[in-house]
Amino acid sequence: MTATTKGSLTCVGVGMMLGAHICPISRSHIENADIVFSAMSDGFVEKWLEQLNPNVHSLQSLYGKDKSRHKTYKEMVQTIVTAVQQNKKVVAAFYGHPGVFVKPAHQAIEQTRALGFDATMVPGISAEACLYADLGMDPGKQGCQHYETSQFMLYQRRIDPSAMLVLWQIGLAGDLSMGIGTTGVAERRLLLELLAEDYSLEHNCWLYEAATMPLMQPRMEQLPLKALLQAEINQHTTLVIPPEKSLVPNIQMRQRLKILQQQATNISKQDNNVIPFNKREKIQ
Ligand SMILES: C[S@@+](CC[C@H](N)C(=O)[O-])C[C@H]1O[C@@H](n2cnc3c(N)ncnc32)[C@H](O)[C@@H]1O
Repeated sequence: MTATTKGSLTCVGVGMMLGAHICPISRSHIENADIVFSAMSDGFVEKWLEQLNPNVHSLQSLYGKDKSRHKTYKEMVQTIVTAVQQNKKVVAAFYGHPGVFVKPAHQAIEQTRALGFDATMVPGISAEACLYADLGMDPGKQGCQHYETSQFMLYQRRIDPSAMLVLWQIGLAGDLSMGIGTTGVAERRLLLELLAEDYSLEHNCWLYEAATMPLMQPRMEQLPLKALLQAEINQHTTLVIPPEKSLVPNIQMRQRLKILQQQATNISKQDNNVIPFNKREKIQ
């Protein structure tokens, strides 16, 4: 009698560029899985996955024209978790990083663990990682803020124009239906109004699309914010707004830190003036 293996879930990211960005750990998980669920819109990626594991099931058909993405994500999670409950070694593969703007991956892991099964995530190369490389921008230089565009519009935010701002899913800006179609000029105009509170509309931004195939060039289109209204914006476009303002020194904090440093120097000077215990007797 063979002992039944317990089901498990691993969410992996295949990166942005077909076949080129996947890490060895993710590849090995895919090759050794009982079943691989693929949540990628690109048929080429699925064909490539099938070379690593013949048992690939696409979750793409769960999306629907007039269907909320919330419902689709719920169904994806249900499909993945059900397979784990059938004691299968399950891999769910997403493009980019499986934990970056991927609600179903996080939820599937949470639910799998709550049911007492093992669930892990393996990081992948995201659009964010690619944009730092292609646009030559370092998020550590002046800091960086990331928002999902509709969430950015629907909630109160404190934007810092001295840091970089990255808006994801700009193609779906202001979509209240949680659908899958791109929104139009009217929604973008409202987004611009919001951005105009912190930026000049003459300020240059980037429309960025990472290359997804070898030999393909990334789209890196620089334009003033005001030109966003007429620009071509796709589902896979990310908006990158470099800092418009310089960093402003925090004088008060600098002074307080200086005082701390001086106090520490004084204490160590005092310590050096104290005659060590083992030398005291010799001096007497
Ligand atoms: C649901 S998120 C998925 C992000 C993905 N998990 C990642 O790690 O990059 C979809 C958004 O990612 C960004 N995105 C997807 N593909 C992209 C590409 N080729 N270039 C730039 N941004 C991309 C866009 O902002 C898009 O609306």
